[in-house]
Amino acid sequence: MSANQTAAVIVLAAGGGTRMKSKALPKVLHPICGRTLVGHAVSAAQELTPGQLVVVVGHMRELVQQHLADEYPGVRTAVQAEQNGTGHAVRTALEALAADGVQLDGTVIVTTGDAPLLTGATLAALAEAHTTQGNGVTVLTAVVPDAAGYGRILREADGQVAAIVEHKDATDEQRAIAEINSGVFAFDAKLLAEALGRLGTDNVQGEEYLTDTLAILRTAGHRVGAVVAADYRDIVGINDRVQLAEARRMLNDRLLERAMRAGVTVVDPASTWFDVQVGYEPDAVVLPGTQLHGATHLGEGCEVGPNTTLTDTLVGAGAHVSNTTAVGAEIGELASVGPYAYLRPGSRLARKAKAGTYVEIKNSELGEGAKVPHLSYIGDATIGEGSNIGAASVTVNYDGVNKHRTVIGAHCRTGSDNMFIAPVTVGDGAYTAAGSVVTNDVPAGALGVARAQQRNIAGWVARKRPGTASAQAAEAAGTPGTGEAGQA
Ligand code: UD1
Ligand code: CA
Repeated sequence: MSANQTAAVIVLAAGGGTRMKSKALPKVLHPICGRTLVGHAVSAAQELTPGQLVVVVGHMRELVQQHLADEYPGVRTAVQAEQNGTGHAVRTALEALAADGVQLDGTVIVTTGDAPLLTGATLAALAEAHTTQGNGVTVLTAVVPDAAGYGRILREADGQVAAIVEHKDATDEQRAIAEINSGVFAFDAKLLAEALGRLGTDNVQGEEYLTDTLAILRTAGHRVGAVVAADYRDIVGINDRVQLAEARRMLNDRLLERAMRAGVTVVDPASTWFDVQVGYEPDAVVLPGTQLHGATHLGEGCEVGPNTTLTDTLVGAGAHVSNTTAVGAEIGELASVGPYAYLRPGSRLARKAKAGTYVEIKNSELGEGAKVPHLSYIGDATIGEGSNIGAASVTVNYDGVNKHRTVIGAHCRTGSDNMFIAPVTVGDGAYTAAGSVVTNDVPAGALGVARAQQRNIAGWVARKRPGTASAQAAEAAGTPGTGEAGQA
């Protein structure tokens, strides 16, 4: 471990989150912008590459532990069976580490599982200030527009931090203070352990407050420092769903601003939502009502939206994607999707391919320039380059038990309203007739016709529907009883 490396980050995430009024999820598992609240905290902590990363879990801990094991393997959890306060929670983490033979030396960062806008950079700045100032403890503070609920920072006349008083324990005079405790601290490991050993529970909530360590260390003659966040939004904590929505908005604004500064046009930030993992290239244009989730990536100069939701989808340079829902799809360069398309996992459109209006595609490849322009379902299919699939076609992939593939070669022209009963293959350059139910392979270059021959029954309307507008129109058109095409 290098001298400047953080010995440990402890993320507090055991609280009940009662104010969320959630039966299904503990507070820290509520997601915003593509990560859970605790996921944001862990991701920020990981940027410091700390020697130890411990999440204190308690309320609904099985769910939190499972989530961490799935998404953040290598993160250690410590169980705080009863939530007796933030100080007790940190003590629990130190005891769990000690039980595993881990003795901490150096800086320990304590952060919370309910502050998703906190970045690794802010944590690093806190750790840096803590060591360079030689503090026993350094608290991250902020001046907020509405301090209700937060612990207030009490400073001496000379500006030195003296103590933190919780909102519930504060006098009216103290409640007027706008500088609040973010809940994030840097401690010297040894002093932290000492101070935790001296915490009492003589407060309104009857809990061991981590915040009391500041006054304890100061009284013992140690330096207590503070870093004031440049932007209070970096530290906002979430206690209820109103704050969850506010934080989502703030984080989204930050993500959109970063995209715009990198050369992405966002026409309407108010109706555009990005997840943290979304990537992009310059000159991508995002039209209103668009949500980009997961590892979605926008290629250079592509246009996405309006009213489009993409999840884990790659959009190639210059592609157009309008009014579309796509999940796990790859959209090639200069390809065109929508309006009103649904691309499901495994849809791969090559360069200049098209999935047009009211088209659903699943687990299928469209070759370069291949087109499915209208009203079709393409599932478990391979369509070769330059082929055109007629309107209202379906690859009939499911026999009720198993799925089968349809293979259509290059430069085919299949007719409108075709059913391809898979498994079936249409050879390169072949055509099929409109209305065909294609049950047998069509050889390369052939025309496949698979429909009943048309017959016309001459004079049927005059005989069966006499006196109707149809009969009158037929009469006006010529001699009823003779047909032009086919025979009776
Ligand atoms: C806490 C701080 C307050 C600060 C605010 C910032 C204390 C006493 N108060 O208040 O000064 O302004 O955060 O958001 O520290 N937790 C546990 N175990 C417990 C209690 C809490 O793990 O026994 C966890 C919670 O899950 C949460 C975090 O600690 O992630 C903070 O707890 P919370 O109850 O939200 O504290 P606040 O009242 O917001
Ligand atoms: Ca809180």
